[in-house]
Amino acid sequence: MKATHVMIGTLLAGLSLQACAEQGNFKEEAERLVSQLTLEEKASLTSGRDAWSTQPIERLDIPYIWVADGPHGLRRAPSTDTWGYGDQAPATCFPTASALSATWDRDLLFKTGQALGEEAQALGVNVLLGPGVNIKRSPLGGRNFEYFSEDPVLAGELAAAYVNGVQSKGVGTSLKHYAANNQETERMFMNSHVDDRTLNEIYLTPFEITVRKSQPWTVMACYNRVQGTYGSQSFDLLDRKLKQDWGFEGIVISDWDAVIDRVEGIRAGLHLEMPGKPGHLTNRDVIDAVRSGDLDEARLDQLVTELLTIVLRANASAETDADQKLDGHHAFARKVASQAIVLLKNDAGLLPLSRENYSDIAVIGEFAVSPRYQGNGSSEVKPPRVDNFLDVAGAEYGGGIRLHYAQGYRLDDDRDFSLIAEAKQAAAEADVALVFAGLPQQYESEGIDRTHIDLPPAHNRLISELASVQENLVVVLTNGSAVAMPWVDEVPSIVEAWLGGQAGAGAVADVVFGAVNPSGRLAETFPVRLQDTPAYLNFPGESGESIYGERIFVGYRYFEARQIEPLFPFGHGLSYTSFDYSGMDVSAGQFSDTEGLTVTATIRNSGEVAGKEVVQLYVSDLESRLQRPVKELKGFTKLSLAPGESREVRFTLDARDFSYYDPRQAQWVAESGEFEIGVGASSADIRLKKTVRLESTQELNYAFDEFTFFRVLWEDGQTRPLLIDLMPGWIGSQAGPGQPLEEVEIHGFLLDQPLIKFPFFTAGEVSSEQIAGLIEKANEMTYRP
Ligand code: BGC
Repeated sequence: MKATHVMIGTLLAGLSLQACAEQGNFKEEAERLVSQLTLEEKASLTSGRDAWSTQPIERLDIPYIWVADGPHGLRRAPSTDTWGYGDQAPATCFPTASALSATWDRDLLFKTGQALGEEAQALGVNVLLGPGVNIKRSPLGGRNFEYFSEDPVLAGELAAAYVNGVQSKGVGTSLKHYAANNQETERMFMNSHVDDRTLNEIYLTPFEITVRKSQPWTVMACYNRVQGTYGSQSFDLLDRKLKQDWGFEGIVISDWDAVIDRVEGIRAGLHLEMPGKPGHLTNRDVIDAVRSGDLDEARLDQLVTELLTIVLRANASAETDADQKLDGHHAFARKVASQAIVLLKNDAGLLPLSRENYSDIAVIGEFAVSPRYQGNGSSEVKPPRVDNFLDVAGAEYGGGIRLHYAQGYRLDDDRDFSLIAEAKQAAAEADVALVFAGLPQQYESEGIDRTHIDLPPAHNRLISELASVQENLVVVLTNGSAVAMPWVDEVPSIVEAWLGGQAGAGAVADVVFGAVNPSGRLAETFPVRLQDTPAYLNFPGESGESIYGERIFVGYRYFEARQIEPLFPFGHGLSYTSFDYSGMDVSAGQFSDTEGLTVTATIRNSGEVAGKEVVQLYVSDLESRLQRPVKELKGFTKLSLAPGESREVRFTLDARDFSYYDPRQAQWVAESGEFEIGVGASSADIRLKKTVRLESTQELNYAFDEFTFFRVLWEDGQTRPLLIDLMPGWIGSQAGPGQPLEEVEIHGFLLDQPLIKFPFFTAGEVSSEQIAGLIEKANEMTYRP
């Protein structure tokens, strides 16, 4: 089928669109069109036509584009002006982002993106609204299932692979929700009160990595305020960071109904308000602002040119007669889900189950027949089919075994314990029991944060009761984000299956019966209790203010700094085989920020079966001017090894991997000093370490102000002479008889006074103006961090 709007668009655009597609020169064509547009038309282009499309201008053959949710499948409404909840076109439901990230597999994310791109092409969608790279600040975040990780590097790297995959098929993406959109409570209004350093190091970095490595066609501005300004109106975020610093070439679209002030949005760099407003009332605001001189028309022209560049490009790359490949994608979705499964615990090698050892298997829990496979909200995909474990296991692994199902609990009543007795009997009579437990739909959703991390009471009690009668008990979890496991010590095996998409049940069967060796790793820390988590006291804030008081100590950065033992650490995941780490080498013991560092190590599959290992590299700053996390993930790679096979892994680190964001300097700073490089199998399982020394070549200007302490300038050999020049009398008065001024020991009380106090302390020897002059002079000097 040829997508209708593409047909119209192509007909309208005629030769000119075709010609510019051939030359790839969409920008020139966009400029030409803008020069012919009226002010009213330009204003209309910066708001949607309806729910899911941009404004076409027939007079000039300007086509529209169709955007649709995402991110783990297409939620394409029947038409651009209907909402598509329930009546969306059937599309493959892939595992949600928490599962995708647990694969730690860039290549697989790229291929998942390609599959999504193919489906978008077949459904006539030009831009897929995803992926979401917001950091999982708290396990309570209602949309955590839709986000990748608590770690900015992991989230950014995987998102970039996904975006590159989708866009390789001629379909755009929308990187969302930019930025610091980490909660659902009051999401339309709340202020993410986050300091500059934390914003840059934790919350912006995944966006930056994705933009730099994949140039998403669009970025979606968030609902919330960031440092007091709405994301859709923040010049700092939309222009300074995104365009000027990171070189973003695409357009910014608003989250749905996020826009408060369109004129302010355009000034800040918001290209498109979505969805279009009934009667397009807000277009008037833009027209009036230009007419009154309040908004520079050149700014509007710039944004419309950039927008049309994407519109033209999207239409030119739209395919006709694309195949949605639903069958092939079902099989692929199963593969993806199988790679995402994290084997959290497997005492005495209970898994994989084998026919020789187990012929009667109790399968317990309603999720085994009625799986929860995706999250609630705008990302809901309508899959053409959904597998369930009981059927798949029976059909594909049933030979020689008998499966005995018991419901165990009711998904619509989390406190109904009446089904436990029957389940216990089934478990007691079997050789092994698999219990499917997790979060029912009403427990996690877009728009609502969780208030606790517990499983339903009926699930928790069921698991404990089963453990009392069956020692071969496997818990299979269905959930989009971390949950507490009060029964963790009572059960030998735990399989984290996430929200695994329409084919997730088959993936569980593949892992449980050993057709797939699990290789997923946690992309988020699982805490023992909610009280142990970083944002516990600050999430979700109150009175519209969410204070990011834990600062950069998010996820494992917090658990490690506080020495709190998590339930399962970041990066953790078991395998049916084992891996040896050896032969770590670094390109140099001492290196500069411009040279960077290469790290190599050898990984060997030392077990009996083939398997995949996720090798993780962490950097620790051993001495630093600013407080730093114990260690931070800076590299990872997934490799597949046959039994006995070894392979060398290689990581290349650059200055950024050693830097912190210095809020005073408003830039990244790589400080000279010692760093420890750790290579291991999880954040808590570092197998190899080496200490290296970085010699910084960065030249920074001092950034002093009147509140800088006297001590800072006095203890610096470069700036001490400036003080001596300025206040020789006062410094002399602190000196012993005949002591040169350079060697004076100034009283600690005075050292810890800010410069602003010195007109007072020197009894008028220096004036406020002279202190201002001193600061100016000092700030012209440079230093090496
Ligand atoms: C969500 C976005 C989504 C949009 C369109 C918003 O409420 O935050 O993620 O893409 O709706 O459905």
